[in-house]
Amino acid sequence: MNPTPPANNLTLDPENWDQIRQTGHQMLDDMLTHFETLRDQPVWQQIPDDTKKSLNEDLPMDGTPIEAVYEQFQKEIFPYPTGNVHPRFWGWVMTNGSATSMLADMLASGMNPHLAGYEQSASLIEKLVVTWLAKLVGFPETSGGLLVSGGTMANLNGLAVARNAKAGYDIREEGMQGDGRPELTVYGSSETHNWVYKACELMGLGRRAFRSIAIKGDYSIDVAACRSAIVADIAAGKKPFCLIGTVGTVNTGAVDDIIALRSIADEFDLWLHVDGAFGSLVALAPEYKHLAKGQEMADSIGFDLHKWGFMSYEIACTLVREQQGQKETFEQAASYIASSERSLSVDITFFADRGLQLSRSFRALKAWMCFKEQGITKIGNIIQQNIEQAQYLENLVVGNDVLELIAPVTMNIVCFRYSDRTKNAEDLNKLNMEILMRIQETGLAVPSQTILEGKFSIRVCLTNHRTRYEDLDMLIDGVVKQAENILKN
Ligand SMILES: Cc1ncc(COP(=O)(O)O)c(C=O)c1O
Repeated sequence: MNPTPPANNLTLDPENWDQIRQTGHQMLDDMLTHFETLRDQPVWQQIPDDTKKSLNEDLPMDGTPIEAVYEQFQKEIFPYPTGNVHPRFWGWVMTNGSATSMLADMLASGMNPHLAGYEQSASLIEKLVVTWLAKLVGFPETSGGLLVSGGTMANLNGLAVARNAKAGYDIREEGMQGDGRPELTVYGSSETHNWVYKACELMGLGRRAFRSIAIKGDYSIDVAACRSAIVADIAAGKKPFCLIGTVGTVNTGAVDDIIALRSIADEFDLWLHVDGAFGSLVALAPEYKHLAKGQEMADSIGFDLHKWGFMSYEIACTLVREQQGQKETFEQAASYIASSERSLSVDITFFADRGLQLSRSFRALKAWMCFKEQGITKIGNIIQQNIEQAQYLENLVVGNDVLELIAPVTMNIVCFRYSDRTKNAEDLNKLNMEILMRIQETGLAVPSQTILEGKFSIRVCLTNHRTRYEDLDMLIDGVVKQAENILKN
């Protein structure tokens, strides 16, 4: 006898589709209006204590109508973001996103495919996007790669492939625990982003495996010092395996001499990985593509699309020149993810075998949609515009007696400070910290900070497709006014 099914089937689908449709349309309208009116809003604002308290709720055991949940979102969540969608946000290396990118994310989330691989349109799109990206950064058609969540993960993937290829023993089997194995070492400038420490620690290499090489006056790696460090390490019985060159350092946008690093890598049979988190895409800017010269010679490269690709978080890419390198590093067989001859399960782990993640989202859709709708030419022209805006800002600083440029402007980052030359170094640092906080607190703009040669710097990173030249005038005005106010009191 067949069992009698229970009368009710629980589901998370709405009872009333018209109602959710209406709320969904409202959400979309509100977000587009937000983009349209950004200039009239503060870049950032402090979250009031009441709001913090109100958001600290108990776990909701029972549901609430979506309209009420959305109302709370509008009141308590939406007004207090990082601010990076705004035209005057230049902190760290962030970006705005775009309406198209947001819509693509919604569609990807709605389709909700699983991108381990599989025979499906989403896999075709990711394969296509990876091919496009290889072309953009000058990698050969035979290279391979995958999309990941961000630059840190992209670089970690590259470093893991490097170690597997160059360790000189079966690192997947023995790990870092094999008896009598030499200490593996990796080289990059002292301006290398701190992802490298996370990666070395996580990979069991330890922080000290990263050899932090001195920089030159332009903040790029001192190639001769790098070579000497490798020679000394070999003489001391270590096993150098990877060089890291950065195209666009996080502090100042400096570019390492990738061609020189390539020749050292060849001389000592090392892997060359390029961290081009934001800088790699300078290859799209018609008059500045030379800045990324040599990146096409790397063995692997990691770069973001959520920085100078202007897409919403999270999306980045790792490319490997010899595509089997990723598979040799990450492939794991298991009966429950085995491929079949036909049907959905052909190529079931095509992407999962190239990186750490098994369950992967359809982030490729936003790259596909943004590239198609915006066109590479326009994206490249906006990257170029950002570089020219950085040069404009540099000139504003240099032309102003009370301001001081702290580092050369190579690309899209300007580091400067208010410099009342009567003050000592420590007071100047405090003064500029105070100026920066006030600029953020008044909602005028969000630059961030760094310290270069002991000098606290107001750091402006232009990876913003909404910035206009007049926004930079407003920043300089604001900095000078805040400094005068502070000094008056
Ligand atoms: C040069 C460089 N490398 C790596 C990263 C890390 O990238 P993500 O924040 O996407 O993990 C950054 C972030 O700003 C960066 O500027």
